[in-house]
Amino acid sequence: MSRPDKHELSTLSFNTLSVHGGNEIDKTSGAIRTPIVMANSYLLPYDPSTMDWSDTEAPSYTRNSGHNQICLQRKLAAMEGGEDAAVFATGVAALHAVFFTFLKSGDHVIVGDVTYEAVWRLFAELLPQRYKIEATFVDMGDMEAVRAAVRPNTKLIHTETIANPTTKVADIATLVSIARKAGALLSVDSTFTPPPFFRPLALGADLVIHSLTKYINGHGDAMGGVVVGSKELIHHVKADALVDLGGTISPFNAWLITRGSVTLPLRLKQQFATAQVVANSLAGDERVAYVTYPGLESHDQHQLAKAQFAGKGYGGVMAFAVEGDPDAQNRFVSNLKVITSAVSLGHDETLIVHVGGSGRGGAERYPLNFQKYGHLRLSIGLEDPQDLIADIKNALDETFDRS
Ligand SMILES: Cc1ncc(COP(=O)(O)O)c(C=O)c1O
Repeated sequence: MSRPDKHELSTLSFNTLSVHGGNEIDKTSGAIRTPIVMANSYLLPYDPSTMDWSDTEAPSYTRNSGHNQICLQRKLAAMEGGEDAAVFATGVAALHAVFFTFLKSGDHVIVGDVTYEAVWRLFAELLPQRYKIEATFVDMGDMEAVRAAVRPNTKLIHTETIANPTTKVADIATLVSIARKAGALLSVDSTFTPPPFFRPLALGADLVIHSLTKYINGHGDAMGGVVVGSKELIHHVKADALVDLGGTISPFNAWLITRGSVTLPLRLKQQFATAQVVANSLAGDERVAYVTYPGLESHDQHQLAKAQFAGKGYGGVMAFAVEGDPDAQNRFVSNLKVITSAVSLGHDETLIVHVGGSGRGGAERYPLNFQKYGHLRLSIGLEDPQDLIADIKNALDETFDRS
C-alpha cells in the first residue's frame, strides 16, 4: 500500500489532504506515521564529487533539505494550491527569505503601513540602511494610495491579508492587478487567514507566507515559517535564502507542524465562529471602549472581507480596549482566568496581549482609538465561546467594581 503522491495530493479535498498530506508509510518499520528523522546528513551516492551541493530536492544535508522538511513542504504547497514550498525556522525567517531573494539595492517596495513589527523594522530601517532598498508604507485599505506609490523601480508589493494588529483587510485581487501592471511581485502574509479559509495564490498572488507558529501548527509548541509559490520562485528562495542564509526548521518542529496541521480545517472553523460570537459580545458591552474585528459591520472593510472571504468567517483575531487608562487594560487582563496573557496567536488556547498604543512603527499608523486607549490583541482558541464570554464579563466586573 502507498500514500498519495505529490500529484495526487492536489486532487484531494482539503480535509483529506490535511489528514494524509505529508504523511508516508515508513519503509523501514512499516509505521503508518512518518517518523522524525533527526539526522544532519544523508548517505551520499557512490560518486558525490559531481553533486550539486546546493541541491534542495534530494536530502544530503539538513540545512538544504531533510525528510521531515520535504514532507511538510509537500503538504503546505498542496494546501495553498502552490507548486512548491520552502519551510523555515520561523515566520520572520520566511518573510526575510522573500525580501532577501527578490530585492536588491535600488529596488523599491510597497508595504502595508500596519504590518508585523519585524517587517516594519526590516523596511523602515534595516533593508534601506544596509542594502539601499527603498520602501513606501501605504494604507492597504486604500488601493488608490497603493497605485500612487508605484514607481518604475517597484519590484515587490507586500501585504498582510488581515493586518496585525489593527485587522485592516487588504483587497488581494486588486493588489494582484496593481502588481502585474507594475511588473512587480505580490507577496502576501496570510498568517491570519490560512487555507482552506483563503488562498491568495488562487487570486494571482505570487508568493504566500505563513508564520507556521500560529494557526497551521496550532498548538503553541513549535515555531516555523513557509513561503509557497511557483516552482521557479520557490527554487530561488531555497537556493538563496535556505542554502546560503540558513534559518532551517528542525526536523522535530517540521514533524510537529505536519501533525498539528491535520486538524487545521476543524480548528479554523470553530475558532473563527467563536471569534464572531466574542466580538459581538465585546461590541455590545459599554465598558469596552472599542473593538475592531472584520466580522463586525462597524469595521471599515467589513464588506470587502465578506466578499473576499466568501462569507466563511473573518479570522480569529480582534483588537479592543476597555474604558480607562493603560492600567485599566492591565487590571482587566490580570482578572482573566481562562484567557492567558501571552504573545502569539492561532494557538489552541485563547491568548491576550496588552500591546499598548504604538508598537515600533509609531502611533500615527494606528486608528485614533488605538492611540487613545492602547489595544488588547485577542486571539481566539478552541475553548467554548460561553466560557470565554463569561471570563471576559467576570474580568470586566472585577475591573470596574474596583475602579
Ligand atoms: C502576521 C504575522 N506574520 C509573521 C509573524 C512572525 O512569525 P514568527 O513569530 O513565527 O517568526 C507573526 C508573528 O506574530 C505574525 O503575526
